[in-house]
Amino acid sequence: MNLDELKPILAEIQADAARDFAAVGTQDELRAARSRYVGKSGTLGKLMGTIKDYPPAERGQVGQLLNQANQALQTLLDEHMRRIEQADLSADASQAAAFDPTLPGTRAPLGGVHPVTAVQWEIETIFERLGFTVEAGPEMERDYYNFEALNIPAMHPARDMQDTFWCTNGLLLRTHTSPVQVRAMEKFGAPLRCIVPGRCFRYETIDASHENTFHQCEGLMIDRNVSIANLIAVMKLLLREVFQREVKVRLRPGYFPFVEPGFELDMSCLICGGKGCATCKKSGWVEILPCGMVHPNVLRFGGIDPHEFTGFAFGLGLTRLAMMKYGVRDIRVMNQGDLRSLAPPWRLEGPTVAEWS
Ligand code: FA5
Repeated sequence: MNLDELKPILAEIQADAARDFAAVGTQDELRAARSRYVGKSGTLGKLMGTIKDYPPAERGQVGQLLNQANQALQTLLDEHMRRIEQADLSADASQAAAFDPTLPGTRAPLGGVHPVTAVQWEIETIFERLGFTVEAGPEMERDYYNFEALNIPAMHPARDMQDTFWCTNGLLLRTHTSPVQVRAMEKFGAPLRCIVPGRCFRYETIDASHENTFHQCEGLMIDRNVSIANLIAVMKLLLREVFQREVKVRLRPGYFPFVEPGFELDMSCLICGGKGCATCKKSGWVEILPCGMVHPNVLRFGGIDPHEFTGFAFGLGLTRLAMMKYGVRDIRVMNQGDLRSLAPPWRLEGPTVAEWS
């Protein structure tokens, strides 16, 4: 090809390239289009390789023409690269404009306080107003505090009243919150007013009202001249405050080796209104608040002189109280961790396990 033939071909390559470059919309497409013209296998690139085929006198001119064409393509490429970058920037900007930070977000579901904790807090507030402190004790307990110091020596048949999980280290999982009675007496002496909310464990067959892991709240008041009248007054106040109304209760004799006399305070079942249901085992009453006057032996174990001081104690079934308060018919709901049942607000007609399983 002579010089005269080369010129229109270069003009045609430039025109083709200009059309191709203008048609692309992305940087990748532009790079692909570029390789069709420049570079070793591009149409212009291939022509570059033919310089050596021209007569030496023409090579300078051919080289000049090819370089001019190459530069023209480079300029075109730069222009279109800028065009595409600009378009990308505007797309980003319009996307940013589409995000409205003032729109309300999606509300993440919030956790709630477990019903037992809610009732526990209420009880703590009630008793703190009466001058009681809130104490705690270990869940893995010594036989001494769980039984012995509560006037239940080894081989005493009353041990059978509370089926016990024994640990391999010689300790046990406390079967009630009563062990903290003697611990508190040892720590504070008399006079003494405290409550002890906490978890207890029993090797129980589980049903609608029995769990192997449940909460109690112990109460203990020791002072001079404390009587059964004080005990009943405090129990009534507790239930009135928790339920915000008078609740029908009955007091019957109860046997616990650590109190004398001992009582069982039952409340009318709020699930069935006292008619009888699975929760109250068809009796219409729910055992909730065993109590009594602290046995002199227990005071002695706590280092307190029973001739000078008397006291009352109670062991509120906290989980059952929460069930009554929130209308939970089956205790198993309480340990299931199912947010459909545990999330507030509570309904008095709460669903049962059977309805969900
Ligand atoms: C006791 O545990 C005594 N320590 C209570 C006590 C304290 C009496 C101080 C006198 C003086 P009882 O085993 O009855 O007593 O349990 C007390 C309450 O805990 C029961 O009324 C009941 O509401 C609750 N409770 C007992 N066992 C279970 C269980 N397996 N599941 C759920 N709640 C239970």
